[in-house]
Parts: sequence; C-alpha cells; structure tokens
Amino acid sequence: MSYNNILTEVKEQVLYITINRPKQLNALNKETIDELSTAFNKAESDADVRVIILTGSGDKAFVAGADIKEFADFSIEQGKQLAAQGHEKLFNLVENLSKPVIAAINGFALGGGLELAMSCHIRIASDNAKVGLPEVTLGVIPGYGGTQRLAQLAGKGKAMEMVMTGGMIKADEAMEWGLVNHVTFASELMEKADELANKIKKNSPVAIGKAITAINAGFKDGINGFDVEIEQFGLAFGTEDFKEGTTAFIEKRKADFPGK
Ligand code: CAA
Repeated sequence: MSYNNILTEVKEQVLYITINRPKQLNALNKETIDELSTAFNKAESDADVRVIILTGSGDKAFVAGADIKEFADFSIEQGKQLAAQGHEKLFNLVENLSKPVIAAINGFALGGGLELAMSCHIRIASDNAKVGLPEVTLGVIPGYGGTQRLAQLAGKGKAMEMVMTGGMIKADEAMEWGLVNHVTFASELMEKADELANKIKKNSPVAIGKAITAINAGFKDGINGFDVEIEQFGLAFGTEDFKEGTTAFIEKRKADFPGK
C-alpha cells in the first residue's frame, strides 16, 4: 500500500511508521491522520508485526501539531468534528492497540504531536526534543486528548501549567515530568527504540495485549481496572502463548510464542 504522507517498513517483526511531511514539520493534516489510521489498523491484524515504532522524518520535528493551515477557518461544528474524528480514528486507536507502540520523538512534539506521542504506550526522546501544548497561543485548546493524557502522565498541576503557558520543555525536563521514559543522543534514538522493541517482541504478544487492556482500563471512566486485570489474567490461561511460556519454563528453554 502506498501513502502520500507516511513511510512504513516492517523489519524483523517491527513496523516502523515515519510521518513524512518534513517541510511542514510533519504537521498532522487530515490525509496524514487517515493514513496513520489505516497503517495502525493494518498493523493490528498483521501477524508479522509485534511492535510499532513511530517517528517523524527529518531531524527537526516528530510532529509540530495539527495542521493549523487546514483548520484556520473552521466553524464551531467543524472544530468539534476535527477533534472527535481525530480521537476516534487515531489517538484512541493507538492507545488501545493490542500491540506496543513506541514513540521515538526526534525533535519538536507540539500540540497534536505531543498528543500523538502521549497516545503511544512508551515514549523515548532525543536530547534535542522539545515538547509542549501551545494551542492556547492560537486561541484554542488541545483537542486530540492532550488535556486528559498530559494530566494522567504528568499530574494535574503540570498539565495546567503546560497548557496555560503554552510553553515548551526540553527532553530532560520531559523525563522529570514522567512524559518520556528515556532520553538519548539524537544519533542513538532509533537504536534505543529498537533495543526496547527487541526486548518486548520476545514476550507473549497475547499477554502484552492483555496487559495494555488492563493498564488502560484504570484510566477509563466507569471501569474498574482491578476487575479488568482479573478478567484478562484469567483469559490468559486459555491461550497457546500461556501453554508455551509455562512449558518452556519447566523445560528450561526459551519460549517461542505463537502469538495466539
Ligand atoms: N501546522 C501547519 N504548518 C506548520 C505547523 C503546524 N502545526 N508547524 C510548522 N508548520 C510549517 C510552517 O508554517 C512552515 O511552513 P512554510 O515554510 O510553508 O511557511 C514550516 O512548517 C516550518 O516551520 P517554521 O518556519 O515555523 O519553523 P521554525 O523553526 O521557525 O519554528 C516551530 C518551529 C516553533 C515548531 C513553529 O513551526 C511552530 O510554532 N509551529 C506551530 C506549533 C503549534 O502551534 N502546534 C499546535 C498546533 S494546534 C493543534 O495541535 C491542535 C490540536 O491539539 C488538535
């Protein structure tokens, strides 16, 4: 499948998705969101993909936000639709994907860019990365889940500060805030992402999917995360991966998970 705004490549069970609009600092226009949605949906059902690494092309930006030029003359109704469709098509999709998604933040992650990174399960930043939610400088607020996910990751006080000031923080501070898990030299960013992907892909894909469901459940309204954990834990006992994992342990060999 060919795309206009993203590049995709599968290598050794890792799908690399690169947002490829470097001249616009990889800003998320509608077509890019649609293409990302298609790529993530395909990855979900592709047995050859065990981990996804998402990054931006060029050395300047992961994603500099939603495409401001595209929504500058939108009405109230169009604004609501932009946010609602974005949540559904991409941001909630990524967060709830059963396969781990690692964001490799290679520069600016602003507005919708930081919101996209925060939808991913794990974030790594290069030391030149700068992240922020500058929407209020444009007279709007974060609309792709930023008000909720930033508060979940960094706490309500930090979220209030970042959103109200519209300011950016550097990679080291983002790590102190709990926004990113690791900071690397820019030249080592993809290496670090690969290292994590390689560790993860040795483990049971089915169990990882269940863990994502259980962890996410605690952040959803009206759902008891502990109940979801009990349910998912129990279901794991009915999988081929569980048989293989426990048998391999008893036979003192490495497990080779079928992913079923
Ligand atoms: N949308 C559309 N185009 C963008 C863009 C965006 N979010 N960010 C950058 N670009 C474009 C610029 O317009 C410019 O294009 P032209 O050459 O055609 O003019 C090109 O990318 C390069 O950008 P700059 O010349 O501005 O580069 P810089 O190095 O001087 O500045 C920057 C870099 C600080 C990231 C600056 O580009 C910037 O502030 N970008 C906007 C960041 C922003 O406000 N993001 C939030 C968007 S709103 C949002 O995301 C809403 C939501 O939650 C749903």
